[in-house]
Amino acid sequence: MMNKKMDQLTEEINQMLSETIPSSTLNTNLEESMRYSLEAGGKRIRPVLLLLTLEMLTNDYNKGFSSALGLEMVHTYSLIHDDLPPMDNDDYRRGKLTNHKVFGEWKAILAGDALLTKAFDIIVNDQALSDAAKIKLIKRLAFASGHLGMVGGQTLDMQSEGEGTRVDIDTLEQIHNAKTGALLKFAVMAAVDIANPEKHVAEALELYSEHLGLMFQIKDDLLDIYGDEAKLGKSVGSDIENDKSTYVSLLGQQGAEEKLKYHTEAAYRCLRQLPKHYHTDNLVYIIELFNHRES
Ligand code: IPE
Ligand code: IPE
Ligand code: MG
Ligand code: MG
Ligand code: MG
Repeated sequence: MMNKKMDQLTEEINQMLSETIPSSTLNTNLEESMRYSLEAGGKRIRPVLLLLTLEMLTNDYNKGFSSALGLEMVHTYSLIHDDLPPMDNDDYRRGKLTNHKVFGEWKAILAGDALLTKAFDIIVNDQALSDAAKIKLIKRLAFASGHLGMVGGQTLDMQSEGEGTRVDIDTLEQIHNAKTGALLKFAVMAAVDIANPEKHVAEALELYSEHLGLMFQIKDDLLDIYGDEAKLGKSVGSDIENDKSTYVSLLGQQGAEEKLKYHTEAAYRCLRQLPKHYHTDNLVYIIELFNHRES
């Protein structure tokens, strides 16, 4: 799938990410490990979604860059830690060996910690945002990343692993909403925080982001079994190896695909509720991308 706007934004984000972690004055070389994962070539779907939402709302996405970069840093840290041996124990990520395979476990942990912290630093130092806007964004990112968001979801994911334990579908939905949905919701709602649209617009977009979050992780569960390792750039089969509860393990391939379809249609309905003067094409494109992605 091709989309010129997305390609352009991805390019801009990659360029900026490559400039955000200057080399150490402490002489630790920790930055090498941070940059290794950050510049390994992720899809950048979260920062792109943030900027596209902001562009739809205000015709200008420049005020979104610090949140977009911060979001990608939190996401990258979550992947570094997710791949560690006590968690999913994976060897490949973003087409390369995982961070701990190259730098060792303690440095991978610390690179993750440093990326998380850097995310907030970047938002705080954004000259284009008012202090009030920064506080809103920092509050939202802290919530999305923390024990009620991504980290909480990762905890539930780990607790539901192994011993043949099967959680029910409502619990699994809760896990997916937290571990994956929270950061995707941040992408859309950070743009809402910056643009400050009418309440009904904010509500429709929030619901849209929730359906996107579930779509994304249902597809991720499907790709972990039926995907192509070369296209994905990460190890497949990890969920079965770790006896994870996933949409596929609970509902089978067809059941997972039906859920994906359900959330796809629901996401479309949210966009149709937006006032007609908004150009929703790019957000529609995101739905299609999440529905059909192979990587
Ligand atoms: C992988 O996210 C982790 C999940 C939440 C499923 P992505 O599929 O967006 O990974 P990158 O950023 O492209 O590497
Ligand atoms: C991880 O979910 C979501 C995160 C918060 C990192 P997964 O463990 O399924 O992600 P992948 O499949 O390793 O990318
Ligand atoms: Mg995991
Ligand atoms: Mg994993
Ligand atoms: Mg997965």
